[in-house]
Amino acid sequence: MPTLRLGSTAPDFEAETTKGTIRFHEWIGNSWAILFSHPDDFTPVCTTELAEVSRRAGDFEKRNVKVIGLSANSLESHHKWVLDINEWGKTDLQYPIIADSDRKVATLYDMLDYQDASNVDKKGLPLTVRTVFVIDPKKTIRLTLAYPASSGRNFDEIIRVVDSLQLGDKHKVTTPVNWRPGDDVIVHPSVPTEEARKIYPNVVEHKYYLRTTAQPA
Ligand code: BEZ
Repeated sequence: MPTLRLGSTAPDFEAETTKGTIRFHEWIGNSWAILFSHPDDFTPVCTTELAEVSRRAGDFEKRNVKVIGLSANSLESHHKWVLDINEWGKTDLQYPIIADSDRKVATLYDMLDYQDASNVDKKGLPLTVRTVFVIDPKKTIRLTLAYPASSGRNFDEIIRVVDSLQLGDKHKVTTPVNWRPGDDVIVHPSVPTEEARKIYPNVVEHKYYLRTTAQPA
């Protein structure tokens, strides 16, 4: 199995989900996608994460991002757990969750940590760690994250990176440490300062390699 890196094509697959059978690439279509795994259904941290992703449906939609969850549980289990998530999170979870009991997709995406003995099911089989894959409309992997079972992810940060990636795809800019949408951005190193001054307002050359400008629209 080839290692998945930034720039790899996201592997395609067919899977059962809480919203029916999907072919992954076809499901993504012309959108961006966030594929995220959680260790197990009916667990506390996972419940808070899946509820948060549901509550933020509007944030994903306005960025043209589809979200899809995954764990090594059955469809029946997912459907029952979604009732709890909705009740606890005061939400109405609408995104699909992949039922990957046989770990077919988890293996394809290297989501299983065979060395983490604390993250196994009753049979001792490894459960998925908290991975995130941000995938663009060309099906290229643009961000990967792996979190331990004990630590819930920060979806503000994941959305922030989507904003940075989408901005960088549209303009020749990159984003600095702790950037938030609306903050100044960095002129891409491939753009000479003179050219940057013609394209962007108020380019400031702090160093020959560090030029900032207001965030372009
Ligand atoms: C949780 O979601 O709370 C959790 C899941 C697996 C292991 C530890 C915690």
